[in-house]
Amino acid sequence: MADERAAKFQNLKTDIHRKLVEQLDMTKLAQNVTEEIREQVRLIVVALCEESNTLLNFSERQRLAREILDETFGLGPLEPLLADPLISDILINGPKQVYIEKGGRLTLTGVKFKDNAHLLHVIDKIVSPLGRRCDEVCPMVDARLKDGSRVNAIIPPLAIDGPSMSIRRFGKDRITWEDYVRFRSCAPEMVEFLRACVHAGLNILIAGGTGSGKTTLLNNLSSFIPDDERIVTIEDAAELQLRQPHVVRLETRPANIEGKGRITIRDLLINALRMRPDRIVVGECRGGETLDMLQAMNTGHEGSMTTIHANTTRDAVQRVETMVMMAGFELSARAIRQQFASAINLIVQAARLTGGPRKIIAITEVQGMEGDVVTMQDIFKFEQDGVNGKGEAYGRMVATGVRPSFLERVQAAGATVNPDWFVGRDLIVESAEQEPT
Ligand SMILES: Nc1ncnc2c1ncn2[C@@H]1O[C@H](COP(=O)(O)OP(=O)(O)O)[C@@H](O)[C@H]1O
Ligand SMILES: [Mg+2]
Repeated sequence: MADERAAKFQNLKTDIHRKLVEQLDMTKLAQNVTEEIREQVRLIVVALCEESNTLLNFSERQRLAREILDETFGLGPLEPLLADPLISDILINGPKQVYIEKGGRLTLTGVKFKDNAHLLHVIDKIVSPLGRRCDEVCPMVDARLKDGSRVNAIIPPLAIDGPSMSIRRFGKDRITWEDYVRFRSCAPEMVEFLRACVHAGLNILIAGGTGSGKTTLLNNLSSFIPDDERIVTIEDAAELQLRQPHVVRLETRPANIEGKGRITIRDLLINALRMRPDRIVVGECRGGETLDMLQAMNTGHEGSMTTIHANTTRDAVQRVETMVMMAGFELSARAIRQQFASAINLIVQAARLTGGPRKIIAITEVQGMEGDVVTMQDIFKFEQDGVNGKGEAYGRMVATGVRPSFLERVQAAGATVNPDWFVGRDLIVESAEQEPT
């Protein structure tokens, strides 16, 4: 019975939408929507919905009107999700499966598209204002919503089970250092330590998995760069929000429809070196640019920062090695490690733990090389003690008792260093019973 009612609802919706399209020139509408037009269309929709009086009750008619308006002016079934600022990701696997991430948890929603064509239409609505297309010729695209959210769409034949779209929300409420402390993502001592390291111009590599909080960390670390330095940022999609006055922001460009004009992170990085930057901040290193970044760090662009995809600090070294080799540079593994060891001073490891909490799980000094091995020492780390009744990881944030060897350099640069930060102890102790943040 419920199914029958739902089907009836859907049919009516299609019906009314068709009538609406007959009455209006939709293409014109999409280009220039004023409040006035919106209101007029709303009245037409409400009138059409009222005609269905006998079939639907009042709240169903209201829902019908809202859904048709979302379809007409917005991104259809996605609108209610986009209106919720607490949703950080919207992941669409074909028309009938829409997941969201909210508060670190991934859940399936009841949101559905009518069919593949409907979902494709919504994808088209997102990418066409940017002069892009998503079709058989170009079955994968990156785009951005008006609010800055990042969108990737990939469609058949590449996506086998129907069009798939991933929306990474651009949080309106950016996470600040106060939030890190409040969420127990790190201890206040760690924030102060990182502030001193950035201020002093150490080269920092942020490592972490997808969605672990790398970009958020990069953004927050960048906030510690002194105001009088010239910063060049390089990203695939501009996410960083630096408040310093002297920032040049660069963004890559995908190939156009003819497959030409692609500008990569590496191209921008090489160009950035000619722009006399004090510091270079690269959103993420994924390929050949990794070696250029290490070289830039080794040749006077101290205080530069980037992120890479790696689950442990050890893995980070391995990843850099692999990326440099895959890019076709004729360098031995040892030579790459040497570049790494001399370029990177500090690795900050981000992680999304079981059940959702995101934490800085290690702040690690890169000390140098011993034989063929990059030597590293954890200064702070997270020790997981278990998983609580809500399925969330909990544990202790620990100062390991190791004093970084670069402390003198940091102090000489005028940054405040407190020796107490490094006294070995638990900085945060979470318990299984503790309320989640
Ligand atoms: N410490 C944190 N606590 C809670 N949420 C966080 C934290 N760091 C990041 N997030 C959220 O996690 C999501 C992924 O973060 P992001 O920095 O984009 O990850 P990555 O760059 O590693 O893919 C975002 O919604 C962000 O707001
Ligand atoms: Mg990121």
